[in-house]
Amino acid sequence: MTSKIKIAIFGGSGYGGSELLRILLFHPNAEISLVTASEQAGKAVGDVHRNLNGLTDLHFAKAPASMEELPDVDVAFFALPHGQALSLVPDLPSGVKVIDLSGDFRINDPQVFKKFYKLEHTATRMQERFVYGLTETNREAISKAQYVANPGCFATATLLALGPMVKSGLLNGKIVVDAKTGSSGSGAKAAANTHHPQRSNSFYAYKPFTHQHVPEIEQHLREMGAFDNEFIFMTHSLPVSRGIFASCYLETSLNMTNEDLAHLYNDLYEDSFFIRMVEGSPDINWVKNTNFCDIAFHSNGKQIVVFSAIDNLVKGAAGQAVQNMNLMFGLEEKTGLVFPGGNP
Ligand SMILES: NC(=O)c1ccc[n+]([C@@H]2O[C@H](COP(=O)([O-])OP(=O)(O)OC[C@H]3O[C@@H](n4cnc5c(N)ncnc54)[C@H](OP(=O)(O)O)[C@@H]3O)[C@@H](O)[C@H]2O)c1
Repeated sequence: MTSKIKIAIFGGSGYGGSELLRILLFHPNAEISLVTASEQAGKAVGDVHRNLNGLTDLHFAKAPASMEELPDVDVAFFALPHGQALSLVPDLPSGVKVIDLSGDFRINDPQVFKKFYKLEHTATRMQERFVYGLTETNREAISKAQYVANPGCFATATLLALGPMVKSGLLNGKIVVDAKTGSSGSGAKAAANTHHPQRSNSFYAYKPFTHQHVPEIEQHLREMGAFDNEFIFMTHSLPVSRGIFASCYLETSLNMTNEDLAHLYNDLYEDSFFIRMVEGSPDINWVKNTNFCDIAFHSNGKQIVVFSAIDNLVKGAAGQAVQNMNLMFGLEEKTGLVFPGGNP
């Protein structure tokens, strides 16, 4: 590819948008033509995202009143609150590719969407054209797609941990996933549940049985294999700003050793640079600020536990979105995404 990919980012002033900018400003094939904000419109990107101070002259613009005023772009990323992409995407010029970081286009059944998002799905015809963007399990479809629904952060950690087990056909009985997130999962605007004195020394569960990532996890597990297991998913808030850690408890129909599990995970992920098998337990410290997902598994006969860790804003959002963009434009999947985290 010789010419650069021209990019619009809707919602560039939030945390997801900030990470898209951090990655795309240094992507060799990317050129950012438009980055929008609502309250922050008019400000310099480096004044809002202080980590980018001195690294770009870009300014936030108001989203165009009509998509006819959109500059000529090849792809539009949407990093807006749920419900916004739903009304904007159908009005885009027909050739523009889309990667939506929100939940607006992840759920195929509009009734299920309404139940979990408390919104009417107003673009069901468009929905049929969206491909679920879990890169490691859906590469071929993503590389041919015009529209990609980027997975949720909890869904990414959970599905990458469970994928090899579902594909094995050996899952038996109930699956329990106990997942934890850092506070940046709630976005850039301060709220009671992200306020430092409240959050820094606390730990609590939230949204029992009602988390909006449950239906996309179940839907994609069914797409990957014969999945009809009972699925219990529980979310918790960690006193850290970044990171997701998922502990997945399952049972298999046959006794399995750690070597058997290693075969399953290596079979699915041997060509997946961003999936790393680790000993013992992953640690959010070692995936923070990166696009890696670290996974560890342990067997006790038919009882299996799988742990996974990601950065919610990178592999769980902007990093995976850029990984998908690379596939959609025929680029090497890792382009612009090979960077380590910090130590510690
Ligand atoms: N945070 C995560 O870990 C994570 C992970 C995966 C997916 N996601 C999804 O990605 C999307 C963005 O999340 P985020 O954490 O980046 O949110 P955020 O930090 O709250 O940012 C939201 C962005 O949307 C803009 N915005 C807010 N209300 C708007 C409105 N009514 N109309 C137009 N623009 C509006 C904001 O602009 P102003 O600031 O200028 O008002 C900001 O640029 C969400 O759908 C979220 O569910 C988030």
